[in-house]
Amino acid sequence: MRAWGFKANGGPEVFEWIERPTPQPGPGQVLIEVGHAGLNFAEVQHRRGEFGAPDGADGYDVPGLEVAGTIAAVGDGVGGLAVGDAVAAYLPSFGGYAEHVLAEAAFTRRTDGLPSAVAAGVPCVYPTAYGVLFDAARLTAGETVLIHAATGGVGSAAARVARLAGAAAVFGTVGSPGKQALAAELGYDALFRREDFGDVLLDATSGRGVDIVLDPVGGRVRRQSLDVLAPFGRVVVYGDLARDPDWTVDAWDLWKHNKSLAGYSIRDLSRRDPARLGDYLARALAELASGELRHERPTVAPVADVRDVHRRFEGGDTSGKTVFSFA
Ligand SMILES: NC(=O)c1ccc[n+]([C@@H]2O[C@H](COP(=O)([O-])OP(=O)(O)OC[C@H]3O[C@@H](n4cnc5c(N)ncnc54)[C@H](OP(=O)(O)O)[C@@H]3O)[C@@H](O)[C@H]2O)c1
Repeated sequence: MRAWGFKANGGPEVFEWIERPTPQPGPGQVLIEVGHAGLNFAEVQHRRGEFGAPDGADGYDVPGLEVAGTIAAVGDGVGGLAVGDAVAAYLPSFGGYAEHVLAEAAFTRRTDGLPSAVAAGVPCVYPTAYGVLFDAARLTAGETVLIHAATGGVGSAAARVARLAGAAAVFGTVGSPGKQALAAELGYDALFRREDFGDVLLDATSGRGVDIVLDPVGGRVRRQSLDVLAPFGRVVVYGDLARDPDWTVDAWDLWKHNKSLAGYSIRDLSRRDPARLGDYLARALAELASGELRHERPTVAPVADVRDVHRRFEGGDTSGKTVFSFA
């Protein structure tokens, strides 16, 4: 089988189309023939070396956290999944940019009629959206939410999930003014420029601020997010897009102003609460297939364009979900 991998960290040019033996599933695993693979910011970080140097057996790392495709083989002890099933899978150990990939059955669910290109963008994105909103932020109906990097994969999914959960208002921030026009299409009450969101958000909420801020950006944006919290508001930290040096949280400030800071990591969840992750994946696929959650049409790019797509994605130029096609 073929895969897009890299044997040295660097820019998008490090990707190579490599040949590897098709793996066989071990106990608890399935082999998936990949139809589409989701593109996530984590793969940019992986390629750059933020997860360490490549250490695959052949010297290459193959990135890719989420795929949709067809089960080609089933390992011992796997129940409820069979050869030929259309499935989507979260891949905590990467490998999705490949014609075939091994997935843990615990993180593999049938897609129930959802198109493969849509399903491929679900397994990492939606459990993250549910996790940041329901587990880390403890969202309840009637609360207000601010989402940084609002038009990206996780951001736009979280906006839809928050609406479905009964959020009273959902605001977002974006890096370029052109993206503000996407507010209505993505279901936001308003999108603000990230560079000066504080005062505008306070104006929009009559000075109260919001109950929840979702922050994958960090640095200055993270610090300012604490300043726009309503009493008992929560900032959820789940990424480091800005690569700003972090600051030391002042516990005194949290205590004296009724604020909370929470964190979310899907990787940690996959190790310590795999059942919850599997349940979230099943829930997302069901809510999307039934239409309860509206799904956007993803941007589909041939996997042969991986270098160009990574280049555009890394510059923050894209919005919504992008998936690679293996057809
Ligand atoms: N902790 C977890 O478990 C978990 C799981 C999944 C994803 N994440 C994190 O969530 C974030 C979003 O991931 P995603 O895959 O959905 O990507 P994405 O949001 O589709 O892409 C990144 C978006 O973030 C914005 N952005 C803000 N600052 C940026 C910067 N310095 N460089 C590039 N883009 C920047 C860009 O739009 P604008 O600048 O216009 O806003 C861009 O569209 C990432 O930080 C990722 O690591 C964390």
